[in-house]
Amino acid sequence: MEVLVKKANLAEFTSEVSVVFHFEGEELGGAAELLDRSSGGLISDVIAGGDFEGKLFQISLIYTRGLIPTVRIIVVGLGKKADFNLEKLRGAFSGAAQQVRKLNLKGFATSMDLGDLTAIVQHLDRVTEAAVEGVFLGLYQFTLFKTVERDKIREIEEFVIVEDREDAWEVIRSAAETAEIISRAVYFARDLVSTPGNEMTPAAMAAKAEELAMTRRNVRVEVLDVPKMRELGMNALLAVARGSDEPASFIILEYRGGRDADPFIALVGKGLTFDSGGISIKPSEKMEEMKSDMAGGAAVIGAIMAVSDMNLPVNVVGLIPATENLPGGNAYKPGDILRSLSGKTIEILTTDAEGRLILADALTYAGKYKPAAIIDIATLTGACVVALGNHVIGMMGTDDRLKGKIRAAADATGERVWEMPLWDDYHELIKSDVADYKNSGGRAGGAITAAAFLSKFVGDYPWVHLDIAGPAWLEKDRPYIPKGASGVGVRLFVQFLRDWRPDQESESRNQNPE
Ligand code: BES
Ligand code: MN
Ligand code: ZN
Repeated sequence: MEVLVKKANLAEFTSEVSVVFHFEGEELGGAAELLDRSSGGLISDVIAGGDFEGKLFQISLIYTRGLIPTVRIIVVGLGKKADFNLEKLRGAFSGAAQQVRKLNLKGFATSMDLGDLTAIVQHLDRVTEAAVEGVFLGLYQFTLFKTVERDKIREIEEFVIVEDREDAWEVIRSAAETAEIISRAVYFARDLVSTPGNEMTPAAMAAKAEELAMTRRNVRVEVLDVPKMRELGMNALLAVARGSDEPASFIILEYRGGRDADPFIALVGKGLTFDSGGISIKPSEKMEEMKSDMAGGAAVIGAIMAVSDMNLPVNVVGLIPATENLPGGNAYKPGDILRSLSGKTIEILTTDAEGRLILADALTYAGKYKPAAIIDIATLTGACVVALGNHVIGMMGTDDRLKGKIRAAADATGERVWEMPLWDDYHELIKSDVADYKNSGGRAGGAITAAAFLSKFVGDYPWVHLDIAGPAWLEKDRPYIPKGASGVGVRLFVQFLRDWRPDQESESRNQNPE
């Protein structure tokens, strides 16, 4: 789909369908009022007839019968004005775009003149970004493996934003471009997560990162192979990989958009391309969803794609330990004790708590960069899903300022986070009798004991852990996130990095790896 911003007036614009918006219980405003007036009251009629109230995401389709150049009007409800936010705007634009696709139309026109709305959420750039994001994200379909009746796959080709106010035009054009970049990065992450384990192997993930580095500015990639990891002593990661014939990869993606002296921000993403549980094998029901256990890694690669395309002035390193967790003949076993890259030893209670093991070595590796912050993202625990549900990211960490920044980015993007505590009590639960730590603290507080485990490998760097086990894979459609892979984390990271100000953060840290 192509997004076009055209200098024109919606009432005079020719299209198959024009999309406008209406708040429940308010007068028509913005482009809705404009189309209503120029068509002699087509929208007011529908409202007066009681067929359309403007309830959130309610949709009405109106034929204009030549009264104005557009063939149809779609009017979308925005709900009560007092309850409105950008998240609802994303959903409203997504709903409109999905409706246009259902009608089998190839394109639609709209306007960013949403009447009072622009005043409510203030910035035209943020409104436009949310709108374009809603359209892209809501229209996503995973069709890579469909070969039969491909002609039945409906796709919108053109989305036109019409604007005749000279000063607004450039703001809209630039915000639409940003939103498209971010959305394409989310698409990329969703595609990676949806691609099954037989195709999205650790090597395939590494190849995706390599391709990114080839096609993007200021991006460098390095992939550590198994012999190299062995040499470094990444034994926790290698233990998980031992049950599989697919060789593990450790992916390092560096984006340098900041000054040389600016420290790196390290993003660490779990890249478990298929999690069977290993010897502590999972029940077979829903096991196929464990192809999504690399969603953290996909989010990190997607975020780096977007920040490079946006040319953000930051230095970011993405670290993705990628492996399968299978119960092969050489698999690691309960009772095993591993010597991690940090030197700390880990007793294995269950081979299904593998994410924290591969992350342990990756977090230790992150220390080589002396980063200004470390943020890891992982489909880490079922316990997090039990605690918070499917639409929230579990957040734990050691640094309040960093948590505050993540929270701000979460609120801005709708990729919401909720903090869980990391009190000393939880650290007690992962002490081992025979090694330094054990890889499971039991059922109680499972999301937190997993984070407590990770904290042992972080060093003194400001650190936040994001558990995306809930939101990474959705079983039901959400307003602008079709069911399946959500791409969660990409938008959160990009927003966080857009807001990052290196001057406030750096205490003249050296950015070079040792
Ligand atoms: N990848 C899973 C966590 C997961 C569960 C993600 C459901 C998405 C949906 C992780 O590796 C895992 O198996 N965790 C175990 C840990 C336990 C054995 C301590 C879990 O949550 O059951
Ligand atoms: Mn597991
Ligand atoms: Zn896992």
